[in-house]
Amino acid sequence: MRTQIVIIGSGPAGLLLGQLLHHYGIDNIIVERQDRDYILGRIRAGVLEQGTVKLLEQVGVGQRLHREALIHSGIYLTFAGQRHTIDFKVATGGRTVAVYGQTEVTQDLMDARAAAGLRTIYHAKDVKPNGIDGASPIVSFVQEGREVTIDCDFIAGCDGFHGVSRQCIPSSAIQTFERVYPFGWLGLLSDTPPVAEELIYTRHERGFALCSMRSMTRSRYYLQCSLDERVEDWSDAQFWDELRCRLDPEARDSLVTGPSLEKSIAPLRSFVAEPMRFGRLFLAGDAAHIVPPTGAKGLNLAASDVHYLSQALREYYAEKSSAGLDGYSQRALARVWKAERFSWWMTSMLHRMSADDGFAERLQLAELDYLIHSKAATTSLAENYVGLPF
Ligand code: APR
Ligand code: PHB
Repeated sequence: MRTQIVIIGSGPAGLLLGQLLHHYGIDNIIVERQDRDYILGRIRAGVLEQGTVKLLEQVGVGQRLHREALIHSGIYLTFAGQRHTIDFKVATGGRTVAVYGQTEVTQDLMDARAAAGLRTIYHAKDVKPNGIDGASPIVSFVQEGREVTIDCDFIAGCDGFHGVSRQCIPSSAIQTFERVYPFGWLGLLSDTPPVAEELIYTRHERGFALCSMRSMTRSRYYLQCSLDERVEDWSDAQFWDELRCRLDPEARDSLVTGPSLEKSIAPLRSFVAEPMRFGRLFLAGDAAHIVPPTGAKGLNLAASDVHYLSQALREYYAEKSSAGLDGYSQRALARVWKAERFSWWMTSMLHRMSADDGFAERLQLAELDYLIHSKAATTSLAENYVGLPF
């Protein structure tokens, strides 16, 4: 088998890259370890920056998004028991974000890929990128017990944090940077109406809480929890009680509870691998970097990566220039690090960091107080939340 680009991984990064390349007339095959249902079963944040929405429109998957997405023009910040509004439209000259589940984005991209007749190989076992430091890379894998190889010009490693792509880069050629946070998020999904029209980010002495949503009838809530907690030990009733306790009075009164559709605990991590290229292998999305979910930057960073990469590949084929490919890592990392900074900052400002650290606690409250009273600070949060340009 032969193609121009083999994409490893069929998450949002791999799927969007595949559609962008197709849009530019570049042939690609996706090789994925899991199956469709597994990928669609993962629950992830779904706050889309306008730049991400534009890319989805560009590849022809904007229709359902425009019908169903909820447009948000701000967030609420709650601390010291009081709720405050950060108005993105006012702070950024009219910019907003779209709330549209990542499952829906993935579904739309998968449908578009199938409609375009592009190939995805699911259930590929033992996927290996080979010859990445030469001119003729090959991706090999095992499918139904048989070894298969695909010859290609370039490989895109879109296989997430635990994927094989980053791991096959020699350790002498890659540097990694990491922060692991001493807490996790316990998430609950329920078919209940959202507690408020905007997302509520809450700093509370008992820990962070977030009220988010998927639609006007489906809500997503999170509680900061310790890393040794087990999801089995949290009944729905306990979750709702703890959430109510952390919310502001208005939210507490309007919270509608119901049975959980899903409950899970996720650790929080900041991680960046540099550079995002080795020879003919290019990393994009979670394969190269992770942000903690505070601020919902994961999917949006994957979108800007694949935008830069698809442009570089278009330039390579259409203009016979390698300049875009040579500049890819630096261009992508410049944006990645700004989102890393923002996600780390939101996380540090809103979570209970350690017990009995009165100094840190007072700094957090001072920062939040400054944030809501300073136009400059509000604008800084707003412009990062709606997304820096790409
Ligand atoms: N071989 C083939 N496929 C693999 C391998 C492998 N060795 N390892 C992982 N994969 C697949 C996974 O099964 C998954 O479908 O790669 C895909 C990676 O998808 P994500 O983890 O969603 O990563 P990415 O597409 O970069 O995500 C971007 O969306 O899902 C969120 O948290 C994610 O916010 C981030 C954004
Ligand atoms: C979510 O809806 O899952 C979500 C929203 C915003 C965040 C994180 C997660 O900052």
